[in-house]
Amino acid sequence: MKKTALVTGGNKGIGFAIVRGLARTGMSVWMGARDRSRGEEAVAILRQEGLDVRLLELDVADEASVQNAAAVLAHELGSLDVLINNAGILSDVITPPSQVSIKDMKAVYEVNLFGSVRVTQAFLSLLKASGEARVVMMSSGVGSLTLITDPTSIYSGVNLLDYTSSKVALNAVTVSFAKELEPFGIKVNAVEPGHVRTDLNANTGILTPDEGAATAIKMALTGPDGPTGGFFGSHGRQPW
Ligand SMILES: NC(=O)c1ccc[n+]([C@@H]2O[C@H](COP(=O)([O-])OP(=O)(O)OC[C@H]3O[C@@H](n4cnc5c(N)ncnc54)[C@H](OP(=O)(O)O)[C@@H]3O)[C@@H](O)[C@H]2O)c1
Repeated sequence: MKKTALVTGGNKGIGFAIVRGLARTGMSVWMGARDRSRGEEAVAILRQEGLDVRLLELDVADEASVQNAAAVLAHELGSLDVLINNAGILSDVITPPSQVSIKDMKAVYEVNLFGSVRVTQAFLSLLKASGEARVVMMSSGVGSLTLITDPTSIYSGVNLLDYTSSKVALNAVTVSFAKELEPFGIKVNAVEPGHVRTDLNANTGILTPDEGAATAIKMALTGPDGPTGGFFGSHGRQPW
């Protein structure tokens, strides 16, 4: 039987490249998109390429939207083999930590952190039904406390209160889910994509979305002997 996958924030950027990459392996992929028309446009591109991709309206920051999407998928599928929690936002890169408002910080957490928790919890019964599901959390290089405090690392020069702390917390969430879900055959890993040219960074990144998608796809396809509860980049394990 065909394997199934769901990618949140799949209508553009790295998420779109992950949807395409997974579908090219022969999976049936549900593209999560918070905006129906943006989602439909993106799905149409991939279906024209002959790929088995379908739209799932899903705003990870909205509890009702997530519950509705989980009900839709439960109606369509008996199980879900891969969940990629990719949706993410960056508020702004100029406000110093001392001036970031709690309101803005909550908005970033609502997508990057709570969104990933909310979606993982909502789709858990489908993931458990797979028996060998893989969950990938889209973290970031700045999610590593080791790298942001290492003066020789490029990430030490980035000081974003909301975005950075949301990704550090997401890494801890990854470890928590990995511990609980191992007995169900579910592997949960965090990945960092590198500096990728997308709208998130006003297309200033150096890697293509396909290059940025590679580690997430690799961890989505990891075999029964593969790791769980880890943090990975293109060169392998990342420091926490
Ligand atoms: N680009 C990089 O260099 C880089 C580096 C490290 C980590 N990352 C991470 O990689 C992930 C993807 O980022 P990207 O660079 O591909 O950014 P992007 O091009 O801006 O794409 C972000 C995607 O997330 C979606 N999204 C935002 N809020 C959402 C919500 N509430 N519910 C559902 N979807 C939502 C967006 O949908 P709309 O089109 O509707 O806005 C879009 O599809 C993020 O988690 C980001 O933090 C990126």
